[in-house]
Amino acid sequence: MSRSPYVALHPVGLHVTQTARRATAADIVASVQREIGAGALPAGSRLPPVRALEKQLGISKNTAQAAYDELVARGLVETREREGVFVLAAARTAAPIPIVSPPLPVFIAPPISRPDLPPRGTIALSTVFIDPELLPTERLAECARSVLREKMPSHYDAQGYPPLRAAIAARLQARGLDVQADEVIITTGSQQSLDIVARSLVTKRIAVESPVYGYAKLLFETSGHELVGLHLDPFEGIDLAAWDRALAAKPALAYLISSFHNPTGYSYTSAELRGVLELCAKHGVAILEDDWGSDMLSDGEYRPMLRMLGGKDVLYVNSFTKKLLPSLRVGFLAASPELVPTLVAMKRLSTLGNAWLTEAVVCEFLERGYYDTHLAQLQRELDARYAACLAALDEMMPDGVRWTRPGGGPTLWLEIPRSVPYEVLEPYLAKRGIHVSNASAAFIGEPHLHGFRLAYAYLSQSEMRNALTIVADALRLLGGSR
Ligand SMILES: Cc1ncc(COP(=O)(O)O)c(C=O)c1O
Repeated sequence: MSRSPYVALHPVGLHVTQTARRATAADIVASVQREIGAGALPAGSRLPPVRALEKQLGISKNTAQAAYDELVARGLVETREREGVFVLAAARTAAPIPIVSPPLPVFIAPPISRPDLPPRGTIALSTVFIDPELLPTERLAECARSVLREKMPSHYDAQGYPPLRAAIAARLQARGLDVQADEVIITTGSQQSLDIVARSLVTKRIAVESPVYGYAKLLFETSGHELVGLHLDPFEGIDLAAWDRALAAKPALAYLISSFHNPTGYSYTSAELRGVLELCAKHGVAILEDDWGSDMLSDGEYRPMLRMLGGKDVLYVNSFTKKLLPSLRVGFLAASPELVPTLVAMKRLSTLGNAWLTEAVVCEFLERGYYDTHLAQLQRELDARYAACLAALDEMMPDGVRWTRPGGGPTLWLEIPRSVPYEVLEPYLAKRGIHVSNASAAFIGEPHLHGFRLAYAYLSQSEMRNALTIVADALRLLGGSR
């Protein structure tokens, strides 16, 4: 016959320890009685056999037996022949001890956050991701296999895998940026770079373009920063006089996406890059440049950056996540040498260090020259999708609809007539399987644009055409235009 498992009685529960004194029979009786009273030993629980109790508590057989005899005598347990010692139903005489729960912590209101990918089965018209079909998963797997054949180092460097830092610095140098390996900090995507910079600032005020990349805005707000809006109209360009007035609020930092701005696709002109540098110098405002897109141009071309013109004092962020593989989550921050120790210390607080395995895979990918080949192939495909998207827009969109022409990057901005309320358009499209993101939360203050991000890097040309046909019909129908 199989026996039921028996519960354990611990010296700690008996309020004695090995180093102090040994449990007496009275200790055991009191402890079992307490646990029965508290409901921790319900009726039918099997107590340890005498020999097991001897071992568990380091007591003699006599003490264990004496304790059980006393428990039987008190009517709390019974001994069943060849089965063991069991708690009796009638034993639970003492009032149960209520469980004391601590209160839940008080959290801030939940930040608005979207799922990482639009719902399955919908056509994601606003996502910033690149079509996974265009990403080099096979070659990455090859690099991962090669890395795994090596012995992984047992320890990490909070600043990031040194060979990857060197490879990144070499790439940046090849693009005319004076960046050394020890000025690079590897982060979990560029999002973590933004986080460690935001948490390092003494003055809690950051200037951002309005509209701006939504998760940067939320991140800065939830880390206690006051945001100063820098009005950006992708159809008109930057009004430097308005930025001059805004920067007079003396934010600690201006967070700027100078190439293929998210969400509008706008790229600063050379005159604007210089104008912004001058304004920031005039008002004593540091710059954090988010360069997620400057290398997304055909033929190995790239756009100039604030970091290139403004030198080492411009904090510079970039990432492999979109262009290589989102799940790798590898991004980086380049900072002038005197800022590196604080930024690394902040990163250490947040993650101690990141996974070297992933960083080593990205490093292998760069060192084998795969990244440049990949970017060139990717860009050819993105160019084709971009051209097809513009052609479809030209052909289909009703009067009053405008769009930006970024010439690179993964998205453009579609500006729709104000006669079509966004709150009506969004559910109308959702019912037809098309998911667009509401950009109103990306503005500082009242939105001055009325539209959404249109992603041509994620959808195939035919998916894009189908989606735009539906969007154009919706705009005609809801806006009463022809
Ligand atoms: C402009 C911009 N910067 C930074 C990020 C963060 O990306 P990641 O952390 O994947 O590098 C994103 C993500 O979409 C983005 O659009």
